[in-house]
Amino acid sequence: MKLPFGFYDKLRDTVRVSEIVGKRVSLTKKGGEHSGLCPFHNEKTPSFTVNDSKKFYHCFGCGAHGDLIRFISETQGFSYKDAAIQIAQDNGIEIPKVTAEEERKYEFADRVKHLLEIANEFFVNHLNVQIKNYLEQRGIKQTTIKDFAIGYAPSGNELEKMLYEKGFSEPEILQSGLFGKRDSGRVYPIFNSRIMFPIKNSFSKIVAFGGRAVGEAMPKYINSPETMLFKKSEIMFGANLANKYFHKDNYAILVEGYMDVIALHQAGFHHAVASLGTSVTQSHIDKLWGSCDEIVVCLDGDEAGKRAANKIIQMILPNVSSVKSVSFIELPLSCDPDDLIQKEGADAFAYYVDNRIALSEKIWRNEYVGKNFEKAESRAALERKFHLYCSEIVDKGLQANFRRYFNDMVWNNIIRRKKGGGIHNASLSEEVRSFAKYSEIEFLEYAICAFLLYFIEFVDEESLEISLSEPKLEGFKLHLVDYLNNNDNPKFESLSVNLKNSRFSGVFELLSKQKNLFLRDIFVNKLEIDKKAFLHWLCKKHYLLILKNEYVELLRLDKASLEVRLSSYLQEINRVSVELKKLSENFLVR
Ligand code: UTP
Ligand code: MN
Repeated sequence: MKLPFGFYDKLRDTVRVSEIVGKRVSLTKKGGEHSGLCPFHNEKTPSFTVNDSKKFYHCFGCGAHGDLIRFISETQGFSYKDAAIQIAQDNGIEIPKVTAEEERKYEFADRVKHLLEIANEFFVNHLNVQIKNYLEQRGIKQTTIKDFAIGYAPSGNELEKMLYEKGFSEPEILQSGLFGKRDSGRVYPIFNSRIMFPIKNSFSKIVAFGGRAVGEAMPKYINSPETMLFKKSEIMFGANLANKYFHKDNYAILVEGYMDVIALHQAGFHHAVASLGTSVTQSHIDKLWGSCDEIVVCLDGDEAGKRAANKIIQMILPNVSSVKSVSFIELPLSCDPDDLIQKEGADAFAYYVDNRIALSEKIWRNEYVGKNFEKAESRAALERKFHLYCSEIVDKGLQANFRRYFNDMVWNNIIRRKKGGGIHNASLSEEVRSFAKYSEIEFLEYAICAFLLYFIEFVDEESLEISLSEPKLEGFKLHLVDYLNNNDNPKFESLSVNLKNSRFSGVFELLSKQKNLFLRDIFVNKLEIDKKAFLHWLCKKHYLLILKNEYVELLRLDKASLEVRLSSYLQEINRVSVELKKLSENFLVR
């Protein structure tokens, strides 16, 4: 029996996965997901989940993953099609008759798919030493060449001849997207002396090709034209491989190029996909949002990449919500993900992913960085722009939070900075009012100072070696060093008298007023801890944060930073992270 076009989608849309799976696995509902014991491997605690809105099941234990049709096919040993028929029958869903014309269309499509497989085999067999060397020199491993089935299209009409010999008709050959036809009636190959990347649909069937010129020939890339199998706005390069990884971390990485996807997959970022020589469309976004909640957009660091990112922002604003989000990675100028990984390694890219920029911050940066807001007029224009961005957001809760964020950012970075030069010179009461605006590092430094103040008797020389980045707090700390050097019996009471009469009375007053905030937050209700060990832990945490900030700064500098060796930073960060983790085992700090 033939199934009509779109029938699989219809099944996925009408029958819930949990209903199908629930008949064979006992499921418990938790939030938006169901979970239970995995039917595909032996386990005692449930790592098998079913998500109705994403329309799939997934096992975190053995990696089993698929839609409701796959579930039946895997558990009952049916083919995918037979499983679909079974589900339709069990659920009283009528399978419309396939018309004779549809039937012919199907057969034709199957023939073209078959042709594309044969063509790809041909390309893979023509991968010569020169091309292998080129790929190797670009850092692509043999196994990756195999995984992506990369090949080479030689010049000449050998492929065409072979296809005719195998009995393919001219309409089939033309519909493959590999050939064009001149007015004279002559058929010619579109891909000539090019490295071939097969593009697959979500069933891992080849539907098109991308071909890269070897060397500097133009155009650099050619893509198959749209055909009955290939709709550019729907298919993304790498999606067939990435699909099962999306839900694992619940995000996708969207990049520009074939080579970016390949380099990322090779480096272990299996969530990477690329739109194909067209700009990103809402249908790409919807496809990705169908499988995960966050899309991390990582376009090239050039002007075109920036323009494309802005277009994406305009497009998605009406559809973002507190659940479905888009975030951004800003790469250094003239650098794409492939370049970054080849030059700096996978860790560097991982760092960008960890420090990805939320949509709100991305908009702020686009509008604020590098511009001047001296004049009231330019400030007004900026606020108007933010207002317009926010008005586009349909999700009410998200819109309200975006408005608050932009207001705060304008207030902190433009208005308040103008009045008094930032938080350092602001009056105490203003500082207290705006405590929530401390950066992570500022907050930690205030917390360390509060700790030093209230537990002065536990302070030893080692912890005083710390150097604080806030000049005022560094001064405060040095004052404590002085106090300790001149007092055999350090106590909070005598220290407070000392401080009240010093030029650090302001800091002292702030720390006293905000004692609960600073200390409660660092202790997380662990009062019975070893104070000395805890102080060492705090200092180490501070050092780690400084390292990380400096590392991110380096990464954000443009091209020049690529020349800087970042690996020593990563090593130090890893070393300190391990030490910190060991220290924290003493008192279970999160
Ligand atoms: P880029 O010019 O950034 O190329 O185009 P790339 O991906 O970095 O390729 P390498 O590293 O030089 O090999 C990004 C993407 O835009 C599309 C392709 O999909 C390409 O991967 N593109 C680019 C075209 O379709 N045609 C072109 O002529 C160039
Ligand atoms: Mn590139």
